[in-house]
Amino acid sequence: MEINKEIDESQQGSATVVKSDKPLNGKKLYLESYGCAMNFADSEVIASIMNSEGYATTSDVHEADIVLINTCSIRENAEDRIRKRLSDFKNRKKRQPGLIVGVLGCMAERLKQNLLEEEKLVDIVAGPDSYRDLPNLVNEVGGGQKAVNVLLSRDETYADISPVRLDKNGISGFVSITRGCDNMCSFCVVPFTRGRERSRSPETIVRECHELFNAGYREVTLLGQNVDSYRWNMTSKGEVKDETQSTTNFAQLMELVAAVSPDLRVRFSTSHPKDMTDEVIEVMAKHDNICPYIHLPVQSGNTEMLQRMNRGYSREWYLNRIEAIRRIMPDCAISTDIITGFCNETDEEHQDTLSLMREVQFDFAYMYKYSERPKTLAERRFEDNVPEEVKGDRLTEVIDLQLSHALAANQRQIGKTHTVLVEGPSKRSEDFFSGRNEYNTKTVFPKGEAKKGDYVKVKINECTSATLMGEIVEILPPAKK
Ligand code: 5AD
Ligand code: SF4
Repeated sequence: MEINKEIDESQQGSATVVKSDKPLNGKKLYLESYGCAMNFADSEVIASIMNSEGYATTSDVHEADIVLINTCSIRENAEDRIRKRLSDFKNRKKRQPGLIVGVLGCMAERLKQNLLEEEKLVDIVAGPDSYRDLPNLVNEVGGGQKAVNVLLSRDETYADISPVRLDKNGISGFVSITRGCDNMCSFCVVPFTRGRERSRSPETIVRECHELFNAGYREVTLLGQNVDSYRWNMTSKGEVKDETQSTTNFAQLMELVAAVSPDLRVRFSTSHPKDMTDEVIEVMAKHDNICPYIHLPVQSGNTEMLQRMNRGYSREWYLNRIEAIRRIMPDCAISTDIITGFCNETDEEHQDTLSLMREVQFDFAYMYKYSERPKTLAERRFEDNVPEEVKGDRLTEVIDLQLSHALAANQRQIGKTHTVLVEGPSKRSEDFFSGRNEYNTKTVFPKGEAKKGDYVKVKINECTSATLMGEIVEILPPAKK
């Protein structure tokens, strides 16, 4: 899944109290989410669906009548962690027999009925396209049965559902624009767990962004496994669905969202190198409120390896996309995803990844050891034959190199002034605010007179490889439309 933003540990497993404006049924839902940003966005849809059935959500598992766990299958260790968590809930259920426990999301889709048998005390198994059915599934369980719905859909986008916001800061929100993925990268389980790609209508996306802005949010991140293939009113084969309606591509969608307000920052994730057009970069360059930051997963720096991964581009193609970004938007930050130790990876191929990293100098990267996933093309075609130790050593090399690049990139910012959106108090100290600059780098500074949701100019004085530290030199007034 290209939306790589595995939410940092602090947000893993978070749950928030949500006040319902509907008549409540006195029951409480505890919701725990793992994995990518898409899952966190889905949990907000789930909270909304359950909320309209009268369930309030709670962050205290002790007072919950229903526990729903939104799961991730991307790598084996993600599933292992969730399995451990499920066994905690098994024990809780022994102490509290009426408690309903449901497994949702990618693991539910992947393991289906087996989860009920394997995990014995799970009551509900619901895949990513069956959340509208959750109230029925809960009722079935109330009648003493186990309930499963893992049907994948060709058109479900939850477009009409206003998500209940579960994030903590109330400043930065996720907005789903597509679901599923048609790419079939050979290592990836997502096409099997999230199904075929479909786009959500531009009207509902823009409406959701307006709602967020009116509720005080100042940043939206448009989410899809491959945002560049966003196409409204077109089939995946490129045929127009309805001649009477206009079509909208991703660049056009971004323009619509950027027009919501000059004070609403627009981000997106994730771009696919094979599909990212110059038009998208040009639209980014044209709008001050579209952040100059692109997450462009490369996975490997070697063309044969990219072929085995079924990525649909070569090393040269990827470098050509980087060149286009640098040409059209010279100060754009670029991040990536890298996998080490994929099937048959030779040392030369690994060296090509390191050399590509040196050439591009990524500002940030998510880096992983290859983890074989059942049913994927790689599992069927190739042997997972790079020893764990070699995978680990290569990963360490990749991480070390990346950290040196990130540190150098941050050091170049010292003395410069960046525009930061204030998200809230920093983790370390109540006297400091934390936010992100336009390039998506975490920036920490003394609070001064600023408030959450303000845009402030921060002069950078110090840095680590992950964070910039500085001081406010100006609090920006709201932009005039
Ligand atoms: N093993 C390791 N990493 C993987 N990713 C996806 N599938 C796997 C896998 N089987 C990584 C890719 C993707 C990111 C979200 O997760 O780098 O871009
Ligand atoms: Fe991303 Fe490829 Fe997986 Fe699709 S198949 S989610 S493009 S890694």
